[in-house]
Amino acid sequence: MIPIKNAREIEKMRQACRSASDILEQLSNMIRPGMSTKDVDTAAAEMMAQAGVKSAVFGYRMGHRVYPGNICISLNDEVIHGIAGQRIIQYGDLVKLDITIIRDGWFGDTAATIPVGLVDDRADRLLRVTQKALERGIGVAREGRRLGDIGAEIEDEARRNGFNVVREFVGHGVGRKMHEEPQVPNYGKRGSGVRLRAGMTLAIEPMINMGAANVRLLDDGWTACTADGLPSAHFEHTVLITNAEPEILTWRGKTQLK
Ligand code: MF3
Ligand code: CO
Ligand code: CO
Repeated sequence: MIPIKNAREIEKMRQACRSASDILEQLSNMIRPGMSTKDVDTAAAEMMAQAGVKSAVFGYRMGHRVYPGNICISLNDEVIHGIAGQRIIQYGDLVKLDITIIRDGWFGDTAATIPVGLVDDRADRLLRVTQKALERGIGVAREGRRLGDIGAEIEDEARRNGFNVVREFVGHGVGRKMHEEPQVPNYGKRGSGVRLRAGMTLAIEPMINMGAANVRLLDDGWTACTADGLPSAHFEHTVLITNAEPEILTWRGKTQLK
């Protein structure tokens, strides 16, 4: 069963998602070479406390593992679910921030890849393509379209640029839980999959690799890295399906790369 949110619930989602995107925006602006990833995580915890929201990932369980961070922070070849630590952010790094918060029982989920200074041309293109892929996926996220339409748009944007979509991780419904039905793959066949309905709230989140699509898990049990060590990019928005334009609940303004 895919939850359909009513007007009151949608307003709750707007508020939760606004908190998540505000925090992502603030964190993006404070990233500097010389900071540790832990510094960023600590700042995130303070922002969440200030905003009266809670991290949805701190203490999150997968099997017997418990996630120790307040946000996910993944560098360069790390695709997603990186854990903050003493590692120092350097000029030229790609810093992926994924923020999931709970506000008054409702979840907002959003991510972006932040280039630290000027990154090399290919990495720069990877970021643009991944953001464009997300925008194309969102563009077909409308009542009456199908789930496969979203994945097909994303995969086409990656492929036509010579990049590859990660297949082990997918987007998802989001609302009263961080992960609800349906799964939202970043690949698919146009016209296939369940029909989208107004009131669905979906986290659409392409992860695109410069090289091969394969990922491997680090020994920490959480961090997914590219198997070939080449960089990866990730952008994520929580989106409300309507009978017209989708509403991007985690929109941060015009400078989406930042
Ligand atoms: N925010 C992630 C997502 O987009 C979920 C992270 S779960 C964690 O679905 F435990 F790994 F942090
Ligand atoms: Co996320
Ligand atoms: Co998500």
